[in-house]
Amino acid sequence: MTSSARLTGKIALVTGAASGLGEAISRRFAAEGARVIIADIDETAGKAVAASLGSTARFVRLDVTDENSWLGVFQDLKAQEGRLDVLVNNAGITTMGSIESLSVAGFKNMLEIDLVGVFIGCKHVAALMRPKGGSIINMSSMCGIRAQADLAGYNAAKAGVTLLTKSVALHYARQRDGIRCNSIHPGAIHTPILEKVMAQVEDPKALLASFEAGHPIGRLGRPEEIAAIALYLASDESAFATGGEFVVDGGSSL
Ligand SMILES: NC(=O)c1ccc[n+]([C@@H]2O[C@H](COP(=O)([O-])OP(=O)(O)OC[C@H]3O[C@@H](n4cnc5c(N)ncnc54)[C@H](O)[C@@H]3O)[C@@H](O)[C@H]2O)c1
Repeated sequence: MTSSARLTGKIALVTGAASGLGEAISRRFAAEGARVIIADIDETAGKAVAASLGSTARFVRLDVTDENSWLGVFQDLKAQEGRLDVLVNNAGITTMGSIESLSVAGFKNMLEIDLVGVFIGCKHVAALMRPKGGSIINMSSMCGIRAQADLAGYNAAKAGVTLLTKSVALHYARQRDGIRCNSIHPGAIHTPILEKVMAQVEDPKALLASFEAGHPIGRLGRPEEIAAIALYLASDESAFATGGEFVVDGGSSL
């Protein structure tokens, strides 16, 4: 990975930054000169990621489903950092299940983390981004564009993120305050979430093979390949992009 300091002077908060894509995005942002706030419910792993990045990063405990948790973190950021330039709403879970097999409780839990969590972040972050403006990056999925029978709840949550992003983008664009909002749509990427999904099925090898076969490019993605598009959206190079669906999925949604 090469660094060209594309985020020098920017302050970024990444949710779900203790693992997987959030960790990779945080590492890339730090390498590009940003100050990075590592936000997660997993304190042990989150603190370890922050410590490995040195003084450019710090950990905050954030439960994205809890509005008071968000308000506490944003109050702390206002006091200690003064503002926020980039918010990556990345925290999420995947529970397998079709419309018949997924429980109502499982469906609601996934919506709370994957969709309501994004809503609360988008709602309150403007106070920290004004008057300078900023970039909100919402982690959707190719599953937010294309349905799969055994991902009924995940499809619903991620499709919700896709259109919520556009509503947020329109609202802030009309305010003329420089706040942009875009969504990223990864295909299957090798992260711990994939291991958790495979642990939910009878034949994990067959599931992995089906994931690979579903990507015309012939392989799964790497976290760094998603961090690269997040970097573009966080940087001023994407100043004219808002409400966009940034698909990085090896062709799987085609
Ligand atoms: N890995 C993939 O194949 C893939 C593909 C498309 C989209 N995504 C999306 O990317 C995002 C990150 O996925 P990942 O693969 O890195 O998963 P991961 O399981 O490695 O990481 C998810 C992180 O979110 C945190 N988290 C969970 N609930 C939280 C909460 N309530 N508050 C704060 N943090 C919480 C976890 O502690 C964990 O650190 C998710 O939104 C996921 O849906 C992943």
